Amino acid sequence: ETVEWDPEQAGKGEYDHFMLKEINEQPTSLAQAIEGRVDSTTERIALSDFEPGTFENVDSVQFVACGTSYHAALYGSLTLNQAGVQSTALLANEYSVSAPPIDDDTLVIAVTQSGETADTLNALRRADAEGARTLTVTNVVGSTAAREADDTLFIRAGPEIGVAATKTFSSQAVMLALLGQRIAGDLRNGPPADLESLLPALESMPTDIDALLDESDAETIAERYRDSQSYFFIGRGLGFPVALEGALKFKEITYEHAEGFASGELKHGPLALVTPETPVFAIFTGQEDEKTLKNAEEAQTRGAPVIAVCPDGHPAVETADEHLAIPDTDPELAGLLANVQLQLVSYYAADLLGRPIDKPRNLAKSVTVE
Ligand code: AGP
Repeated sequence: ETVEWDPEQAGKGEYDHFMLKEINEQPTSLAQAIEGRVDSTTERIALSDFEPGTFENVDSVQFVACGTSYHAALYGSLTLNQAGVQSTALLANEYSVSAPPIDDDTLVIAVTQSGETADTLNALRRADAEGARTLTVTNVVGSTAAREADDTLFIRAGPEIGVAATKTFSSQAVMLALLGQRIAGDLRNGPPADLESLLPALESMPTDIDALLDESDAETIAERYRDSQSYFFIGRGLGFPVALEGALKFKEITYEHAEGFASGELKHGPLALVTPETPVFAIFTGQEDEKTLKNAEEAQTRGAPVIAVCPDGHPAVETADEHLAIPDTDPELAGLLANVQLQLVSYYAADLLGRPIDKPRNLAKSVTVE
């Protein structure tokens, strides 16, 4: 007797979709990403992928990336700025017309899960031709972007089959936060920044995500707001790239309209769209949360249900209509925990609508055309 063997089906294990499997793999993929790269006992980032002093001549950093990788790049760029290094994140497909000046002390970092995205490769090649130093942050060993850059940092997330990037986003963001601290450390040429809170928080991330996945109310929220007209995501600081990513994931797999905004931008236009049919997911990362709360309340006053993504006991829990809980952590990582809740909301919303979650219409896992 022969048994039909569908390798794709088998690869999903107990899950209905690769996306859900990959969301649930994040405790493992993050543990793999940081393994051997942080040491909380000595409070050091041991990024031995690079020689000591590798970055000591860097005077500015430009990130180039597309889609979800761009959101991770924006996250990385903000952490670098916070560490005192001049940095900017640029859409790779805009780079040929909008690249800031480059010299040989500019470090251009391509962030690309596949390492094969045509727009990102073009930006990387342009940067190289203009004399910049180049570095690729990727998941795929042997990919074109890995081979072409001067240096490479692998995120070790393992294969990602779902078209919607999930576990690779969290691994990219974490690796960029570490790389940022390393670059800042090389530039300072002195004692490293205070990593006393960040490193233990990083090491707790797998446990934190496990706890979050066990207790998430994302499915209930997805069900409750399934008939809405549009879905808004707001965040400030490191919550802003997470708001953009929450909205991209939502539109990609549910086909519903979703937008991400910097919290403070709502009142500069988007508030005109707000009605009881536009739930607002408000992401709190511990950076000026009182302002984000005020922005969320402005939407609530216009009838929008507010879903606060924040730890238990946070002031937003009191006023919001709903709460998606995240464990307490370092402000540099809170957005990544919030993002896992948002990944789950998108997943369950798409599932309720019967969408082909792993292969959304019109999209490819790797976009190899310009
Ligand atoms: C994310 O869910 C998308 N599939 C897409 O935005 C993707 O992140 C983008 O095409 C970039 O791909 P890359 O990371 O392989 O370069």
